[in-house]
Amino acid sequence: MRRAICPGSFDPITLGHLDIIRRASVLFDAVTVCVMVNGGKGGGMFSAEERLEFVRLAVEGLENVDCVRWDGLLADLVVQQGASALVKGVRGAGDFDWEYQMACINRGLGGAVETVLLPAAPEYVYFSSTMAREMIRYGQDLRKYLPTAVADRLRKGNEDHGE
Ligand code: PNS
Repeated sequence: MRRAICPGSFDPITLGHLDIIRRASVLFDAVTVCVMVNGGKGGGMFSAEERLEFVRLAVEGLENVDCVRWDGLLADLVVQQGASALVKGVRGAGDFDWEYQMACINRGLGGAVETVLLPAAPEYVYFSSTMAREMIRYGQDLRKYLPTAVADRLRKGNEDHGE
């Protein structure tokens, strides 16, 4: 049984993330999507519970995918889950430089973790969670960019708050 972990801050999960998770679920027997804290990114927009709920909504129907929240070292989760690899998406040279460093660091930690980098599909290259947060701040419709269930949940939240 070969399990991959797709880690990220998912603040919020985008269609680009979901595409990487789907592709990982074809390459591996099982995938754990792991909602984490990126120490370099500050407070963020959504709480860890909200981000995990959005990920759950997004991966519903993907049979071999589950999701967890993990506040510790990623390499420790890999060992705990007996995972074979981490999977991350890369949209360009900036992502690659960062992910290459992270892969080297994670490989040097307990368990000698391998990282598989998947090139982002062209239609998702220009979008990011940062862009999603900006659009949410300005009340924009995100159905083109976020998993449908997540975009609908956000829209409903706005309607319930009378926005
Ligand atoms: O979606 P992101 O922000 O690119 O995800 C980055 C994340 C959360 C995967 C990364 O910051 C991370 O692995 N954080 C957990 C702590 C850790 O294991 N850091 C690396 C070794 S010090």
